[in-house]
Amino acid sequence: MAKYVIGVDGGTESLRAAVFDLEGRILGSHAVPYDTQYPHPGWAEQRPGDWWGALGGAVRGALAASGVAPGAVAALCVDTTCCTVVALGADGEPLRPALLWMDMRSAAQAARVAAADDPALQVNGGGRGPVSAEWMVPKALWLAEAEPEVYAAAATICEFQDYINRRLTGRRCASANCMAVRWHWDSSRGPPLSLLSKLGIPDLASKWPLVDGEGRPAVLAPGEAVGGLTEEAAAHVGLPPGLLVAQGGADAFIGMLGLGVVEPGQMALLTGSSHLQLGMVGKPLHGAGFFGTYSDAVLPGLHVIEGGQTSTGSVLAWFRRTCCPPGTPYSVLDAEAEAVPPGSEGLVALDHFQGNRTPHTDPLSRGALAGLTLKHGRGHVWRALMEGVAAGTAIILRTMAAAGYAPASIALAGGAANSPLWLQIHADMSGVPLRLTRCSDAPMLGCAILAAVAAGLYGSVGEAAGRMVGVEREVVPSPEGVEAYREPLRRYAALYPALAPIFRGEYDTHTHRGGALAPAPLPSPSPASGPSASAPSRPAASAPARLGPSSAPAWGPPPGPRSLLLAPSLLAADFAALGAACKEAEAAGADWLHVDVFDGSWELCPNFTLGPPVVAALRGATALPLDCHLAVQYPDRHLDALLAAVAGGPGGRPPGGGGAGGVTVHWEVAGPEAWAEGVEAEQRDSAAAARVAGWAARIRGYGLRAGVALAPSTPLPGALVGLARAGGVDQVLILAVDPGFGGQGFQGGVLGKVRELRAACPDLRIVVDGGISALTAPQAAGAGADVLVSGSWLFGHPQGLAAGLAELRAAAEGGAAAAVAP
Ligand code: DX5
Ligand code: ZN
Repeated sequence: MAKYVIGVDGGTESLRAAVFDLEGRILGSHAVPYDTQYPHPGWAEQRPGDWWGALGGAVRGALAASGVAPGAVAALCVDTTCCTVVALGADGEPLRPALLWMDMRSAAQAARVAAADDPALQVNGGGRGPVSAEWMVPKALWLAEAEPEVYAAAATICEFQDYINRRLTGRRCASANCMAVRWHWDSSRGPPLSLLSKLGIPDLASKWPLVDGEGRPAVLAPGEAVGGLTEEAAAHVGLPPGLLVAQGGADAFIGMLGLGVVEPGQMALLTGSSHLQLGMVGKPLHGAGFFGTYSDAVLPGLHVIEGGQTSTGSVLAWFRRTCCPPGTPYSVLDAEAEAVPPGSEGLVALDHFQGNRTPHTDPLSRGALAGLTLKHGRGHVWRALMEGVAAGTAIILRTMAAAGYAPASIALAGGAANSPLWLQIHADMSGVPLRLTRCSDAPMLGCAILAAVAAGLYGSVGEAAGRMVGVEREVVPSPEGVEAYREPLRRYAALYPALAPIFRGEYDTHTHRGGALAPAPLPSPSPASGPSASAPSRPAASAPARLGPSSAPAWGPPPGPRSLLLAPSLLAADFAALGAACKEAEAAGADWLHVDVFDGSWELCPNFTLGPPVVAALRGATALPLDCHLAVQYPDRHLDALLAAVAGGPGGRPPGGGGAGGVTVHWEVAGPEAWAEGVEAEQRDSAAAARVAGWAARIRGYGLRAGVALAPSTPLPGALVGLARAGGVDQVLILAVDPGFGGQGFQGGVLGKVRELRAACPDLRIVVDGGISALTAPQAAGAGADVLVSGSWLFGHPQGLAAGLAELRAAAEGGAAAAVAP
């Protein structure tokens, strides 16, 4: 009788297969690597055909290594990376390479998904987000928008997991596990139809393999039978046709089963370069600071809660690589750390080297070592880093506990298991016993368990896990350890809130307040001094700044007096009464009017506002300078008409003595051909700069100010800084909200660009647009902005526009003055 099963783990770099016996022992295994292609920064693709090739080689290799006869295998089950998205034609053939889980191209789409405010988003921090560009819906939305022909031709949009199961059995089907954790799908509600409708892709639900070719429901839970191997697949993997294929799922989640996490109150802690906490929960929970629960995600009737730390083992590896002699063994560092008492004599480390996933969900957070003294040595630092990571896990557990979930035991797998010291620190800090299991390949063993249950070799997953997962040892928290870490844990918990303003660039408004650092007289500039990393000192004065191109040489004399200009954004005004809004702004003392000209053609700016004819009408309604923010894919289409409208006629000459306006174009659309594949970033940026310089010349030809805008996600290009220094543009607009709509939250992360630009170009006019309120205006002004665009806050001000402008001006000038101190 067949009494072996095969588990397959489709990973990022390779696919591995192993033949297991019914005690969970590996009798033979084999791995076949495949490549990842990186067509652009942040993109990552794989070829589905490569996975299929690797699967054949790995299964045949594992069988050969085990010596088990193909006829003695009862079933096969595969887990894969998640969310790796593939688009298949009606024939099941891939229409393009797969978007690998780590592919970040759909960041803009992810932000829109997050902003859709749909009940399906509850599983992300209780609706507070985030939504990752890694997931299914943002990736599918990207396909629909960037490659509409692929999207239209796709009969099926699914995952690596579903592609493999289909090739094995011929059945169009989906993994309930992947869907529950990364597709915003819910076992009781089904697909997120209202979310997909809000995003304009309601047809995506029919492209998901919710039903198979015969119309049968095809969302299959882990361990359900997908079908039998087709003749072709059987020949490919070297197993008999008809052999049972069981449904798997996402590697880490199937790994829970391989760690014996099958009951409520059990948790898996997967350690490596990052930490992942996955707990089994008896009832649904949603809340801030964790992800999930995902209903029925791994086992029917149970729910999965998720926490994660982005950098953990990678932090220790970083220290060893950068601060220790080459080849220093981990055991030597552990021994040095062992000699240091718990709490590292006051030294505390923040493990957020790559940001924080939970509980703070802050990509801008960074690592830190606080409390250093001259007494501290290498062992202290090593211990503090270990403690920082373990404290990060402990804080995640506390956050979950506050929502009603506290694990009774944690099955730990991965790199941390190699350090007895680190294990004990984890146990003492979290106060929960750790279990270490025999098989280090938890996802493959999880697959083996599912295959064995599907084949009827065990009655349930619980029974199979009881037999196939061997607990090797337990690390229990020691009462003295728990006590000793009480204070260090509190110290750790206080560190992030204390440092977060620094990571967000919000320190300017805090540090120099209160007169302790009064503005000092400006140092006399030395023409020989090079660029400085910090912002130059500038006086906050009230005389108007010069208009027109910057003529100051890069390191020339300090800038002259600069005033803060306030520009209400008409996007937030009543569109049925724009003329009245212009007059109101004029009477209220606005300096400019900000006019968003969007035509919906640019994928990053999904709104359609107004065009040149309306701008011409506004020109006639007010004497205020109209500062037009042109966020379109093809500025050339509208530029001449818009310029004539802003300038009040073909030759320039604004009517009524009003100041000249300006037009700002987006850097990102400066010549799509320049962004083509294979073009080096530097080459592309200099091509973009050339294109922008051409537009700027045309804008200036009308007597208007020429500007360039950067979306929040666009880093400050060196070529733009060069262009600004050379006086090729008059102003740079830094968008602090995603292009398209007002009323979004201020993205403080963009202030770094403002500071950098101000340091490089003391005389440049810098506009910060979006999310400006009395709270954020001082930050923007303190960073070096001299024009602030505010829409919803100003037009929504309870005391009216004039009061709002006064409040904003006072707040912003306070921020600018505070930033002047050296
Ligand atoms: C966003 C626009 C902004 C917007 C700002 O794409 O470019 O000008 O109107 O509005 P608030 O201040 O409401 O975010
Ligand atoms: Zn704007």
